[in-house]
Amino acid sequence: MTLSTALAWAIDLLAVLLLALGLKGLSKVRSARSANGLAALAMGLAVLGLLIQQPLSAVAWLWIVIGSAVGGLAGLVMARRVPMTAMPETVALFNGCGGMASLLVALGVALFGAGEAGLVEGISIVISVFVGAITFTGSLVAMGKLQGWIDTPGWTQSQVRHGVNIALAVAALVGAFSLPADPAGAGLWLLLLAASLLGIGVTLPIGGADMPVVISLLNSYSGVAAAAAGFVVGSPLLIVAGAMVGAAGLILTQVMCTAMNRSLLNVLFGGALGGGGGGPVGGGGDEAGYTRITSCSAEECALALENAERVVFVPGYGLAVAQAQHALRELAKLLEANGTEVTYAIHPVAGRMPGHMNVLLAEADVPYEQLVEMDAINPEFPRTDVVIVLGANDVVNPDAKTDSSSPLYGMPVLEVDQARQVFVVKRSLGAGYAGIKNALFELPQTAMVFGDAKVVLNGLASELRDLGFGKKTAA
Ligand code: TAP
Repeated sequence: MTLSTALAWAIDLLAVLLLALGLKGLSKVRSARSANGLAALAMGLAVLGLLIQQPLSAVAWLWIVIGSAVGGLAGLVMARRVPMTAMPETVALFNGCGGMASLLVALGVALFGAGEAGLVEGISIVISVFVGAITFTGSLVAMGKLQGWIDTPGWTQSQVRHGVNIALAVAALVGAFSLPADPAGAGLWLLLLAASLLGIGVTLPIGGADMPVVISLLNSYSGVAAAAAGFVVGSPLLIVAGAMVGAAGLILTQVMCTAMNRSLLNVLFGGALGGGGGGPVGGGGDEAGYTRITSCSAEECALALENAERVVFVPGYGLAVAQAQHALRELAKLLEANGTEVTYAIHPVAGRMPGHMNVLLAEADVPYEQLVEMDAINPEFPRTDVVIVLGANDVVNPDAKTDSSSPLYGMPVLEVDQARQVFVVKRSLGAGYAGIKNALFELPQTAMVFGDAKVVLNGLASELRDLGFGKKTAA
């Protein structure tokens, strides 16, 4: 073994360790930022290890420098510009790029070096092209749907789509089996074309509500494609990194399915409206469906807050839409300075992406220890004086526990109905993602505070200042 090979192996090993540490750190809000840095460092080391190992021509260096500069700049601009609400689309695009990269690596070897490919490499090429192509086109469709650029065509909701997808899968299989005889021939292009169309075919019918689950699954696929590409080019680092991404994506997919009370098979084969598809699936989600609503002003809500010893805020999608996280933090600071105990109840699928509320509140420097996960906060609600629900709807719907006909039935929810007083801040009686009525709004302990979350929160803070809260802070 030459010195450069030994050094490259050592760097690869370090990169794998850093990547594993990075993934582990991402599971905690407190360590997520530094974990992201570790994972980025691991990727940098991976590139360095490769460069040390491979003697490269000047032309190859030029391509690497240009590619890194263009890709790095695009990533930097996107990371700075993309708003938090557009993060699912961005992740979909990144997954698609990952799938495409693995696909291109495998294609390159198939076209220019498959003569030397053994059985393992041959099988890996097939997997990499197949999964990479599905990931690429599927992710682009997912991104287009989330951006509102692509609608769900009517025919994709019929059984026809299963026939089309099965035909495409069979065509891909035929292409794959013809590869040993002619590794760079028509079979390779048939495999590529059929898998690309299959990616569109399986993603197109899926509804908006299920799209984040699909994106997480595509993320897992991009890992599988990368691991297969690792076998193609003989890179242990790529194999390990790809396997980690594949496994992490699969676990996240499962966690999201459980939190939304959906099975993965139901998401993939259930159609656009299969349970919370974004449309009004249950009916009764409009204002006409309610008869016993109590509403109140910010002033009345502030009076309740003034006397509360323990307050829990429940953030939801509407808080993100209103970009009211800073206004919420200001209100919480006023309450805390007055001696009120403040916590934030975090539902695993509140918002529109995993960890959405954690990220949102972290933006406003809400202390991590005040964010309490659903299982830990639920037993605390009976001893909570005031709960303020901010732009959340489905994640606090008590029907999920009691009404077996509800599309949400079985989904674990935040049991805010157990608290002494509940204020729900939203603009109307409109439905949430699942499109259904919320029994919480009609409970005797609930009062609606209608308005944009940011406007209401600013109003509450100003009411509290009028009640002397700001002065107590200063004193
Ligand atoms: P939702 O049930 O979607 O309700 C959000 C509420 O926010 C709406 O009822 C809306 O009511 C209100 N709102 C919108 N803009 C507002 C504003 N500017 N100010 C105040 N309120 C505003 O949200 P949730 O409770 O967070 O539940 C999330 C839902 O998304 C669940 O059904 C979940 O299964 C689904 N989902 C989540 C994920 C992930 S991973 N988080 C992925 C896919 C699907 P008004 O229009 O009346 O204001």
